[in-house]
Amino acid sequence: MSADVRPITATEHPVWTQTLNRGFLRADPVTPGDVALRAAAGELGRVQGAFDSETGGCVGTFRSFTQELTVPGGATVTASAVTNVSVLPTHRRQGLLTRMMAAEFAAATARGDVLSTLIAAEYPIYGRYGYGPAVYVAEWEIDVPRTGLDPRRPAPAGGGRIDLVDVAEARRVGPALHERIRATRHGVTGRDARWWRLATGEEEFSFRPYKPKLYAVYRTAAGEVAGLVAYRGDDHWTDAKVPLNTLHVEELLAVTPEAERALWHFLCSIDWALRIRTGLRATDDLAPGLLPDPRAAAILTHADFLWVRVLDVVRALGARTYEVPGVLVLEVTDPAGLSGGRFRLDAGTGRCAATGAPADLRIDVAALGSLYLGDGSAVRLGALGQITEERPGALALADAVFRTARKPWSPDIF
Ligand SMILES: CC(C)(COP(=O)(O)OP(=O)(O)OC[C@H]1O[C@@H](n2cnc3c(N)ncnc32)[C@H](O)[C@@H]1OP(=O)(O)O)[C@@H](O)C(=O)NCCC(=O)NCCS
Repeated sequence: MSADVRPITATEHPVWTQTLNRGFLRADPVTPGDVALRAAAGELGRVQGAFDSETGGCVGTFRSFTQELTVPGGATVTASAVTNVSVLPTHRRQGLLTRMMAAEFAAATARGDVLSTLIAAEYPIYGRYGYGPAVYVAEWEIDVPRTGLDPRRPAPAGGGRIDLVDVAEARRVGPALHERIRATRHGVTGRDARWWRLATGEEEFSFRPYKPKLYAVYRTAAGEVAGLVAYRGDDHWTDAKVPLNTLHVEELLAVTPEAERALWHFLCSIDWALRIRTGLRATDDLAPGLLPDPRAAAILTHADFLWVRVLDVVRALGARTYEVPGVLVLEVTDPAGLSGGRFRLDAGTGRCAATGAPADLRIDVAALGSLYLGDGSAVRLGALGQITEERPGALALADAVFRTARKPWSPDIF
């Protein structure tokens, strides 16, 4: 079966949306509202479709958009974020994703994008295209009675105060809080107005109706908003009227450790809550450590989340800062022929440039993606055969240079 791969036209949004839903196993019919939301999000030249050559039907979908990603040190780089990837089961494994990905890379390099990013539905799909898992996330379940926090007293708010607010207030204070976190926390990606509209129920897809949430805001003693939590209970009780509620944290943003402590302790102090599911946090999140007994927080998920594909090595490595000084010459191999070459990184100055000097390390571009945000360990990737050491000690140096004191955090699915 042959197929054409091309950007869609404005009139093709309905069939494209229908195909995407089918590819994602959503049987409900697509509504005009779903189509309008997709159409509003998609910059036309960046929405690709695969069309069966015989029937003309849409059989594959792919979209990218401009995304700002915070890198270690607080700078942002422009990434092309890939999303809405699907190929119908009738047309899978015929190379359609590979063709859409090739078109995307050609366009992204022409635009001058530094990276490509995505959240992988399945681990084995994207390594072949040069993406490496760059940010891992974790979710914990907190067994509230085991935490050691005093259930009889309200949680102290550390000099500040916590107030329940309505969704309109959350929508008002949330974006500025997120921007403050994004300016300092690497791995965080930008959110646009649409993101907030979907998160707070102003817009919704028919297949994912908005679930109302409770919101609480933390203010410092000076009255400045420094934290926000969105959560919901599950109304679970035994027949004997014993409350067994689990609180599901949908979002917890805190710009200071004090705000973070106050919000987690607040959640643990809520009557009826036996358990708290933290939502996806950084793997070194403070939450377990804020409990008198950290073992009350049991890990539910520890998984790869944000994948990074380096498109421009010089600009990518030049954008971030490094933990320790040191000079490394990297021979980057890229089977796709996009970003390979030999590069000298001076971690002390943060400068990166092409070089003819002998290589210290040979590294596949996907492994470079795994190192880039400071989560991956060069020594571990070396042991896994994804980096080859050409100069003794270079792996250990790369480990110290690339890893970051705090882990990256990527809270958003896209
Ligand atoms: C994942 C998906 C988009 C792949 O599309 P496709 O057109 O079948 O992919 P291609 O034919 O271009 O495959 C390219 C290579 O990747 C491999 N591959 C693709 N999907 C894979 C998967 N899910 N697991 C393992 N390998 C996979 C193929 O076997 C092929 O390898 P080969 O060249 O060695 O034979 C498609 O199967 C799909 O829509 N799946 C359900 C939705 C989904 O997971 N989307 C991704 C969201 S992030």
